[in-house]
Amino acid sequence: MIPACHLLSLSTHVPDAVLTNNDIAQRVDTSDDWIVSRTGIRQRHILPETDNASDLGLAAARKALADAGTEPEELTHVLAATCTPDALSPSVACLVAGRLGARNAMAFDISAACSGFLYGLSLCQALLAQSPMAKILFVCTEALTRRLNWTDRSTCILFGDAATACLVASVPDKQMALVEDVLCMSDGTQSELIVVGGGSRCRYKKGDPVDEDFFVAMRGRETYKYAVRNMSQVCAEILSRNNLTAAQVDLLVPHQANLRIIEAVGSRLGLTGEKVFINVDKYGNTSSASIPLALAEARAAGCIAEGDRVLITAFGAGLTWGASLLQF
Ligand code: UT7
Repeated sequence: MIPACHLLSLSTHVPDAVLTNNDIAQRVDTSDDWIVSRTGIRQRHILPETDNASDLGLAAARKALADAGTEPEELTHVLAATCTPDALSPSVACLVAGRLGARNAMAFDISAACSGFLYGLSLCQALLAQSPMAKILFVCTEALTRRLNWTDRSTCILFGDAATACLVASVPDKQMALVEDVLCMSDGTQSELIVVGGGSRCRYKKGDPVDEDFFVAMRGRETYKYAVRNMSQVCAEILSRNNLTAAQVDLLVPHQANLRIIEAVGSRLGLTGEKVFINVDKYGNTSSASIPLALAEARAAGCIAEGDRVLITAFGAGLTWGASLLQF
């Protein structure tokens, strides 16, 4: 029998500093009205000058371990989903594991952009199948404001910084949430739609100024269409393979990239109003951290009760997308 995959804790860390739409309107030709009406975003959080993605992730990880009553030495695996690691190497997972003192854990990063939480859950299932006694710390952390081109108004308005962390293990009784199913997809033929730059195709010599290829670039309109279509389809598929209808879902928690995308996916599935959780207005798009941050807020706000079935779905660079069914 395949061991069950449970979330034992879910913690978040959001940096204090807030950047409002009006703050951005002082840098580029945009307005609060335009940003709110096209995206639903009102503000985003921005990490301190002194911090990197691993610092945000470490703060969330410490809370997740404390909440689960787990010591760093007990961890067998540390995973980090991020598209804005401190460096191309070492991994954020190694940095977090090192600072926690998780000396018995293997550690590595997952590069699946905004679908990172879903890809990570899928990996947790696989790791638990391989090692049923595994204790996995799964961090999602993003410092996207570090990779924004603050002269490109079509992207710099969209993203924010945040981190989350979960303790994942196979236990006999349901803890915080049971991961019932995960379905992840990709289409590398559309890789140019969203790019987070800074990799080996940046051909800089020491002293060169960075150019546009160093930053986030996106073909927004096309991305929007793929996002709505692919998230709706993958949700329908995961419901169907679990013999469920959307009516049996208590809450849809979609990736928080754009309010219009969220509403379009919800209405295609027949889930609207209180059946859809939204916090994109407060954080913008925090990539891999977006869904777990929304899940944590939904729980804190009483929107998820014991026994609820929650459908989560994401879409991001790669292209990558996916869905998962969680039972709380
Ligand atoms: O997490 C990864 C997934 N990412 C996404 O899901 C993002 C998907 N895409 C989107 O959310 C939307 O496409 C955007 C919010 C990025 C853009 O909204 P849009 O309604 O698709 O606008 P557009 O790109 O078609 O641009 C319409 C107009 C253009 O002006 P012209 O050419 O019509 O004169 C843009 O230059 O809006 C202009 N524009 C802006 N105007 C004011 C683009 N950005 C801005 C801005 N402020 N910030």
